[in-house]
Amino acid sequence: MTSGLILAIDQGTTNTKALLVDATGSVHHQASVPNVVTYPQPGWAEQSASALVDGVKQVISEVVAKAGTAEIQGIGISNQRESIVVWDAATGQPIGPCIIWQCRRSAPKCDALRAAGYADAIEAKTGLALDPLFPAAKIAWLLDNVPGARQRAEAGELRVGTVDAWLLWTLTGGAVHATDHSNASRTQLFNTETLSWDADLCALFDVPPKMLPEVRSSDSEFGRVAAGVCALPPGTPVRAMIGDSHAALFGHGVRAPGTVKATYGTGTSLMALTPQRVRSRHGISSTIAWSQNGVVQHALEGNISVSGQTAAFAAELLGLADAAALSALAQTVPDSNGVAFVPALVGLGAPYWRADARGTITGMTLGTKPAHLARAALEAIAFQVADVYAAMEADMGSPLGELRADGGASRNPLVMQFQSDILGRPVAAAAAPEVSALGAAALAFASLGISMPGVPAAGHFAPQMDETSRSTHRQRWLTAVAQTLATNDKQTSGGNP
Ligand code: G3P
Repeated sequence: MTSGLILAIDQGTTNTKALLVDATGSVHHQASVPNVVTYPQPGWAEQSASALVDGVKQVISEVVAKAGTAEIQGIGISNQRESIVVWDAATGQPIGPCIIWQCRRSAPKCDALRAAGYADAIEAKTGLALDPLFPAAKIAWLLDNVPGARQRAEAGELRVGTVDAWLLWTLTGGAVHATDHSNASRTQLFNTETLSWDADLCALFDVPPKMLPEVRSSDSEFGRVAAGVCALPPGTPVRAMIGDSHAALFGHGVRAPGTVKATYGTGTSLMALTPQRVRSRHGISSTIAWSQNGVVQHALEGNISVSGQTAAFAAELLGLADAAALSALAQTVPDSNGVAFVPALVGLGAPYWRADARGTITGMTLGTKPAHLARAALEAIAFQVADVYAAMEADMGSPLGELRADGGASRNPLVMQFQSDILGRPVAAAAAPEVSALGAAALAFASLGISMPGVPAAGHFAPQMDETSRSTHRQRWLTAVAQTLATNDKQTSGGNP
């Protein structure tokens, strides 16, 4: 008997993908559909909860049409995190849009809780800084803004979940309302010490606990596909659910503290396992990576707001076609000639957390050429990762090792070499682009007692920069960041927030 195939679903913000994966990590078939994000007001972001489900059904149909279903042993789901859906338990109909992670509509609620002095207590229980990114305040917003929703929630008529739970509910025909530890840990309602929904947090955020899903081990058999829901045979088990950033760490094959992964996308997420629950003192989130057989694995995560997007942004500023053209221009000079670009284009995320910061270019002279700016933009991607990496090391209290890279910028050798140089650590860039989906497949295989290997590296980069140059570069960058923050302090105190 073969070990069969896992159908991995990666429900992301931009695309929904399905991959049929075998136990060696080889992808037999895959399909992808784009998703629409709408921005109804400045700072708001949402998706159609029904369209997300339709997309999942479509990619399942496409891979099943190519490969049949005979060898499929189950489903593994990785998903965009922190995006929430509230639905009617009787009809399964969403009561509003999927309010996605990027949405800031719940900022007033977070501001009020901060003003009332709750931020520290919230972070102590959840590992997460109080921020509208997280679902807790988003759920309350929906209950307060959809007519009748709060009463219906109190009456037990509504369910809430992150996207994993919403997909599980629909795939099982409404039979199962559950999530996994990784997704629960990102809600800001889950106490990562007691490993349970926290009654005090639910009260603070005004979320009735009865709406929340049951929290299970990430490698659970969560439920079985109901008849007629999708192209899979009824009874196909959902064998794993895990947030996408966590899935990428699993997909890289990281199973012990010491190795850091970085997923370079629009922003960048760095994550590293920790031996136990760590409260960050350096601007990093503490979170749950995953759980297997009920055993929870804790992690640190740092999210950089604008990372790979820096290249596209700078390309447009310089009148270049795209990020590839920017990279080609950057390679015409050996360095940035003293220029630093701090891409605080939506503020600065980890480890600085300054929503009010604005982008800054420092160090320009009459000798500055567009190529130096191009180089500074690419270097900024690596410098920001180095800042988060250093903050993680400070929280861990011991040196971290290799960086495993995936996502767009991991395919740029110039960025990867500079990353290794500036970290003074080896960097391994993943061979496959779909590390999150492969991580979900690996977790599902693990639930069957089968060990799928981590995604191999396509490129290895070793540090080539000497210590003096590394320190000079880092100092120049840190000075530019300090100037960025100081400039904004002055503007703010001058009445220009
Ligand atoms: O935290 C949000 C993150 O999970 C979204 O990931 O891949 O959909 O951009 P992605």
